[in-house]
Amino acid sequence: MGVVASRPQSKPDPASAAGVVLSVPTGDGEDVLGALVALVQGDFEACNRTIVARMDSPVALIPQVAAHIVAAGGKRLRPLLTLAVARMCGYQGGLRHVHLAACVEFIHTATLLHDDVVDESALRRGLASANAVFGNKASVLVGDFLLARAFQLMVADGSLKVLDILSCAAATIAEGEVLQLVTQNDLSTQEDRYLEVVRGKTAALFAAACEVGAVVAERPPADEQALREYGMNLGIAFQLVDDALDYAADQATLGKTVGDDFREGKITLPVLTAYQAGTAADRVFWKRTIEDSEQTEADLDHALKLMAACGAIQTTLDRAGGFAAAAKAALARFPASDLRAALMDVADYTVSRAR
Ligand code: IPE
Ligand code: IPE
Ligand code: MG
Ligand code: MG
Repeated sequence: MGVVASRPQSKPDPASAAGVVLSVPTGDGEDVLGALVALVQGDFEACNRTIVARMDSPVALIPQVAAHIVAAGGKRLRPLLTLAVARMCGYQGGLRHVHLAACVEFIHTATLLHDDVVDESALRRGLASANAVFGNKASVLVGDFLLARAFQLMVADGSLKVLDILSCAAATIAEGEVLQLVTQNDLSTQEDRYLEVVRGKTAALFAAACEVGAVVAERPPADEQALREYGMNLGIAFQLVDDALDYAADQATLGKTVGDDFREGKITLPVLTAYQAGTAADRVFWKRTIEDSEQTEADLDHALKLMAACGAIQTTLDRAGGFAAAAKAALARFPASDLRAALMDVADYTVSRAR
């Protein structure tokens, strides 16, 4: 494969450059994922081996591009959820959960490859994005390949129920991304619409990742539903925090370019909150920058100041905290165990994370 990925120089953190005080997550929860990995260590290693084995192809550019993004890391949160849920539900049947965890990560990776093209993002997982290194065409096509690999893994599982859950998730993600395109640059977007985008593009895969863990363990429908609820609420919280971090994170820690959402005119909760709290003059600013896409270098700093003044980042994190609490509540029906405790902690981590 031999791809040497260039690590772009990290730009100054816009939040600190502007001298703006934003309340941001501290990342204290990093050990939470480590604890979860430790509880499913063997499964996790098998999942990573499956990922590497299944991204191979005789067409050399495919493993090159795939290795670029896979080797860059990523938190592997979604496959960890599948593995942990399956084990919490008592799954002992073999490797179905491992293969489905890899399938879930392939769907996620495919969406990242496509998303970075659509969002024109230059940085992913701390490295130059695949589109920046290999171009848009290779990113889109290798994303298609990984999605096809995901479908092969679903079919190999043999359960139509699993195929239904994961194929619906794949369609819903695409719908969410298209719906986001429709709301882009539109400050009249209502919060409900924004949450619909979030449920589609992000939370649907979290929900499916958890649900299939329960399905392979052959749990009753009420348990499957509860774990789906856990995943859905967790995924919403995760995306709300992602949207806060896009303005407020330390870029080197985040591994993505801070301010991308602003430059793209994305309608996210930090923007909607600041827009709605703004004075007439503030609204003129938001309309020019977000709706008319007329931006100068200094505008991101000004946006951060307006967000700091009305607590838009904190409001977003508080909303995320509400969804994280709902995620935890969905786990209440399961007997206490190390895995249940770790999944509860993941909900808190989702809100406190810095990357
Ligand atoms: C990024 O997801 C895409 C979003 C839904 C915000 P992650 O933050 O889980 O990305 P990796 O896999 O850890 O890089
Ligand atoms: C999540 O949205 C995208 C997908 C679920 C594919 P973002 O566009 O906010 O994700 P990042 O910030 O690029 O990771
Ligand atoms: Mg993006
Ligand atoms: Mg984002």
